[in-house]
Amino acid sequence: MGDSMATKQAYVQVKDLKKHYGDGDARLTVLDGIDASINRGEICVMLGPSGSGKSTFLNLIGGLEDADAGSILVDGCDLTTLNAADLGEYRRRELGFVFQFYNLVPDLTIKENIEVTAHLSKNPLNIDELLRSLGLYEHRNKFPRQVSGGQQQRCAIGRALVKNPGLLLCDEPTGALDYKTSKEILQLMEDVNRTYGCTIIIVTHNAAIARMANRVLRLRDGRIVEDELNESPVAAAELDW
Ligand SMILES: Nc1ncnc2c1ncn2[C@@H]1O[C@H](COP(=O)(O)OP(=O)(O)OP(=O)(O)O)[C@@H](O)[C@H]1O
Ligand SMILES: [Mg+2]
Repeated sequence: MGDSMATKQAYVQVKDLKKHYGDGDARLTVLDGIDASINRGEICVMLGPSGSGKSTFLNLIGGLEDADAGSILVDGCDLTTLNAADLGEYRRRELGFVFQFYNLVPDLTIKENIEVTAHLSKNPLNIDELLRSLGLYEHRNKFPRQVSGGQQQRCAIGRALVKNPGLLLCDEPTGALDYKTSKEILQLMEDVNRTYGCTIIIVTHNAAIARMANRVLRLRDGRIVEDELNESPVAAAELDW
């Protein structure tokens, strides 16, 4: 996996990252000094109990929320020093985001949902080719409500990928899907990692998914309690749970 990425260098580097919500008695420390380093081309799976800060971590790397302290370097650029306009540019240029509940635009077809973000990129992928590799070509003119959950998630992944992003952030991407469809989606992610070389961070509750990762981060109470490299990741097709 990731064999095409000959050079292994830190692509996402997070140092002493802190984040809290609320004040006074309601103050809640969500990220309590996170240090993590993710190499270019890696598939990184982040595990942790509900409320441990996984989505918050992903949102900070995605520039959707501000950190209290610490730094987040992506490709050498510290997000915590960027202004709103530059953060927007970072999100457009560098980032794909996949959520648990797809977030497609209901009044746009499958193809149009993907086209919208293609326009944000200077070097978008070919949409028809992408639709074919997502298994969505025959469904391209349907609306999201006319296709299955797995097909909607494929579309959401297509929407994130069409920009050809360096970094794909996935928050519980299979959380709403059955076993078989989940495995298909994970195989798709493995494929895009191999084909396009994008770095992928997958947040999940499903520990079995960690077996396909190059790196596994375990979060507990806002801290990384385990950072493990997996020398021989298992093919997504071989996962079982
Ligand atoms: N906008 C917010 N305002 C206040 N508290 C928040 C906010 N967002 C998250 N939290 C709290 O921060 C903690 C971490 O939330 P987060 O969503 O990062 O957890 P998570 O690990 O993704 O959990 P899950 O697995 O359930 O999705 C939780 O206790 C949550 O209630
Ligand atoms: Mg979450």
